[in-house]
Amino acid sequence: MVTRTVDLRSDTVTRPTEAMRAAMANAEVDDDVLGFDPTAHRFEAEMAKITGKEAALFVPSGTMGNLICVLVQCEVRGSEVILGDNSHINIYENGGISTIGSVHSRTVKNNSDGTMDIALIEAAIRDPEGKLYYPTTRLICLENTHANCGGRCISVEYTDRVGQLAKKHGLKLHIDGARIFNAATALGVPVHRLVQAADTVSVCLSKGLGAPVGSVIVGSKSFIAKAKILRKTLGGGMRQIGILCAAAYVALQENVGKLEGDHRKAKMFADGLNQIKGLRVDKASVETNIIFFDTLEGSNIMVDKLCKILEEHGVLMMPVSSSSIRLVLHHQISDSDVQYAISCIQQAVLQLQIENIGK
Ligand SMILES: Cc1ncc(COP(=O)(O)O)c(C=O)c1O
Repeated sequence: MVTRTVDLRSDTVTRPTEAMRAAMANAEVDDDVLGFDPTAHRFEAEMAKITGKEAALFVPSGTMGNLICVLVQCEVRGSEVILGDNSHINIYENGGISTIGSVHSRTVKNNSDGTMDIALIEAAIRDPEGKLYYPTTRLICLENTHANCGGRCISVEYTDRVGQLAKKHGLKLHIDGARIFNAATALGVPVHRLVQAADTVSVCLSKGLGAPVGSVIVGSKSFIAKAKILRKTLGGGMRQIGILCAAAYVALQENVGKLEGDHRKAKMFADGLNQIKGLRVDKASVETNIIFFDTLEGSNIMVDKLCKILEEHGVLMMPVSSSSIRLVLHHQISDSDVQYAISCIQQAVLQLQIENIGK
């Protein structure tokens, strides 16, 4: 019988805290489609301030946030966006920018640290002289932290350089900042400075911050005015969203300060995993709350079987390939949960190795 659950599948699995539930119950609300929800107004103003942008807009999800940001900045048919081949927008968002927005993607290889070589980005910018044949480059997208690269942080220097490149070519810069607070915490740089070079940023509230629902997009006032129309078109205009914004407000107050602890626990977890024969983590790549670990060749540890055994002990993780597993720390994972999960993994690995010897 499972007596304890340690849910490491993602930082999206957190449950709203008592304070969030209380704030939701007491939120002052009105119709946000009509533009009158006071809690949404307050929350959006706060997010604009934190990110150093003119205005902000609450949206139902990170996927919709990215979609709106790309589409508004690529509103002319035949537009092209440069983005990482391993980016969330490219891989996990149903190709929405092309299926819904008719925006053409030009991918550039993501390095293992989540960056793209600046020279490769520049080489991917279309020559306007060839516009009879080429799509027109209008936007560059970065992702910070970079989820598929293991939650790696993109530095302010790198972001500024990409911003300068975008400016030089008359392009816009968007940052998928689903976990921008994790990046800011790990780098010790305020969010507004980290995204200073970006025209738009999408920030998830329901990941490391632990709010139950929502994302916020930020940018200039004129961008947000267009974004609001597109949000309605996409079915993302919602009524009493103050209920959701109230919880997100509490998440900002309660949980930003806990991110440092999540990162410390991730490093502790990585150390523990590296003590287990047959598993390996590149500790240097663990910069924030995400860990990818590998089973070593010849270890005969089947990832699916390992996850199945762990599930029986209440430890939930996400297999990402036949030899790799992802786990994500969040504010509802304690130090003792980390110790428990490591010892369960150790036992499960041993069990699999003994089973293999018997074969
Ligand atoms: C980096 C990144 N961007 C965007 C998203 C999309 O967010 P949502 O699941 O709210 O659509 C995710 C979701 O995990 C993500 O990791």
